[in-house]
Amino acid sequence: MIVCVCHNVSDRKIRQAVSEGVTTMPQLREQLQVGTCCGKCHSCAKTVLRESLEEG
Ligand code: FES
Repeated sequence: MIVCVCHNVSDRKIRQAVSEGVTTMPQLREQLQVGTCCGKCHSCAKTVLRESLEEG
């Protein structure tokens, strides 16, 4: 599933970033540029980030 269309970021990419140590939205933004264009993906990216963190 693509979370961020502007930067072509999938939920898998977010999970991978989490496995590499990302724990917050600002870190995710820095690594994958999620939400830095139109911003529409912000809440979806946040949900995927939270789920990934909960899954460990
Ligand atoms: Fe993520 Fe536009 S869809 S910034």
